[in-house]
Amino acid sequence: MTAIEATGLRYAYPDGTLAVDGVDVTVEAGERVALLGPNGAGKSTLLQLLGGLVDPDAGTVRYFGETTDADAVRDRLSVLTQNPADYLFNPTVREDLAYGPSQQDLSAVEVDRRVERVADQLDLGDLLSKPPFRLSGGEQRRAALASALTVEPAVLLLDEPVSNVDAANRAEILSLLSALSADGVTLVTSTPDTELVPHVADRVVLLDAAGEVAATGPTREILTDTDLLTDCDLRPPQVVRLFDGREDVPLTVAEARARLGD
Ligand SMILES: Nc1ncnc2c1ncn2[C@@H]1O[C@H](COP(=O)(O)OP(=O)(O)OP(=O)(O)O)[C@@H](O)[C@H]1O
Ligand SMILES: [Mg+2]
Repeated sequence: MTAIEATGLRYAYPDGTLAVDGVDVTVEAGERVALLGPNGAGKSTLLQLLGGLVDPDAGTVRYFGETTDADAVRDRLSVLTQNPADYLFNPTVREDLAYGPSQQDLSAVEVDRRVERVADQLDLGDLLSKPPFRLSGGEQRRAALASALTVEPAVLLLDEPVSNVDAANRAEILSLLSALSADGVTLVTSTPDTELVPHVADRVVLLDAAGEVAATGPTREILTDTDLLTDCDLRPPQVVRLFDGREDVPLTVAEARARLGD
């Protein structure tokens, strides 16, 4: 089944900036896809178009092969934008986490169960009673992600989910995303960071600085094409540069260690 099928997407901001121009993206259910591109390529705009938060000037987005109405699939699709404040507007973090599921037809007990579980997974327990604006920047990002997860979406669109997050929390978030993917959740992650891509995606949609799709393909194929990445103002992952030109180029430090027989 196709989770998201976008064709001919075009979007210009009111000041005339053409952020997305003629982009096609298809995401199959259960896939892990990265939207990779340099700053200003239009990743965030594209993610908001794919999530139905913004209407395109041209083109369509179809969900689950069923509908082009994003509001009709809000209980199956969550979008995490780059701005945590989009999700944190209640008096306490607990209420922010409960907000999404409380819009669904769920019992109060079930809403509480979800809040407790996600808070536990993202180590937010001590923060639940705090006003969200009292959280640190990294804590706000985790709380915003948590609020996207409590609706238990089938499709999760994430804009730079680990930027501004420390190493321990980054590892926790990445392992949570892996577990969600193993459960069949579709993941679309936007990032300018080639190092992150192997951890969140099996397939890459590569955007160039002009916001056009420069290439799309398996993560290994895109991340080992150093010329292609450089043309898109991106730097290949460190271990790819280290092993460039050899056989079986590793994409991550863990792969490199395995290759070195460590
Ligand atoms: N509200 C806005 N009004 C006008 N132009 C905007 C607005 N938001 C973004 N843009 C422009 O649209 C283009 C795409 O921006 P977008 O935020 O989608 O890029 P991005 O790939 O997410 O970049 P980053 O990696 O820095 O997050 C940029 O040229 C940006 O300056
Ligand atoms: Mg962005």
